[in-house]
Amino acid sequence: MIIAVYAVKGGAGRTTIAVNLAAALGQKHRGDCVLLDLSLPYNHAALVANLVPAGCLALSERPDENHFEEALLAAGLHHHTGMVVLPSVLRVEQSELVTPMLVQRALAVLEQTFSYIVVDLGVAMTEVTLSVLERANRIIVMVTAELPTLKDTADLLQIFETVLDIPPARVSLVLNHPRPQTMVTRADAERVTKRPMHMEIAYDGARFDRAAVMGEVLVATEPSSAVAKTLTRLASSISDEHKGRAAKRN
Ligand SMILES: Nc1ncnc2c1ncn2[C@@H]1O[C@H](COP(=O)(O)OP(=O)(O)OP(=O)(O)O)[C@@H](O)[C@H]1O
Ligand SMILES: [Mg+2]
Repeated sequence: MIIAVYAVKGGAGRTTIAVNLAAALGQKHRGDCVLLDLSLPYNHAALVANLVPAGCLALSERPDENHFEEALLAAGLHHHTGMVVLPSVLRVEQSELVTPMLVQRALAVLEQTFSYIVVDLGVAMTEVTLSVLERANRIIVMVTAELPTLKDTADLLQIFETVLDIPPARVSLVLNHPRPQTMVTRADAERVTKRPMHMEIAYDGARFDRAAVMGEVLVATEPSSAVAKTLTRLASSISDEHKGRAAKRN
């Protein structure tokens, strides 16, 4: 199951949520969740999780399918929570090697190996981003409480539906507060986007920042904090959805 984490604006909390979601899924399903970091051109997920990458998607390109699979899986970094983190580039200039075709090829391999593939996407609507959004089984759109962001998110949802043919049921909006509470409320967010918020993540001061600096993942180090609990609930809802999909197939 592919879970894409997207937002119309930088700094909305995509990496924070993608890393914690993947870690929470890794805790439940050890070795069965990979976090594919496609937030290009800068890859931060490994850094945030205190992992040092040696390989990446961009350098796994091999004409031979078997060697590609080997190289790709070898580039995955095993985190103590049970998730695997797969960077797409080691250096900014390798971004151009990450083509939609390479990403689709990688997703096909990852789908054979992992039940859960969480993808941290960049803001730019590149061909790579579009190809992942179209293939994703669940799209988590991070929303922040500012009017321009809400308006842009409403436009994005329109594009999903009318241009990309993505059914609304496949998209979950998560309201995040990376800054102290603003004047814009959850009700405003729901009114402007015309969609219910699946979840709301409270502003949690410097807790996420501190964790990122220490290379810690909150769902593992502070599982009883309110934000970690919210993210664990999000992971449970994904897990249930996966079970439902598997049951339907059988
Ligand atoms: N709920 C929250 N409470 C407090 N701080 C938060 C919260 N969510 C995210 N942050 C902080 O906000 C900043 C931006 O988050 P993050 O890097 O996850 O966003 P992003 O969408 O991945 O940004 P980028 O566009 O740089 O990739 C980080 O410093 C993070 O620690
Ligand atoms: Mg990011």
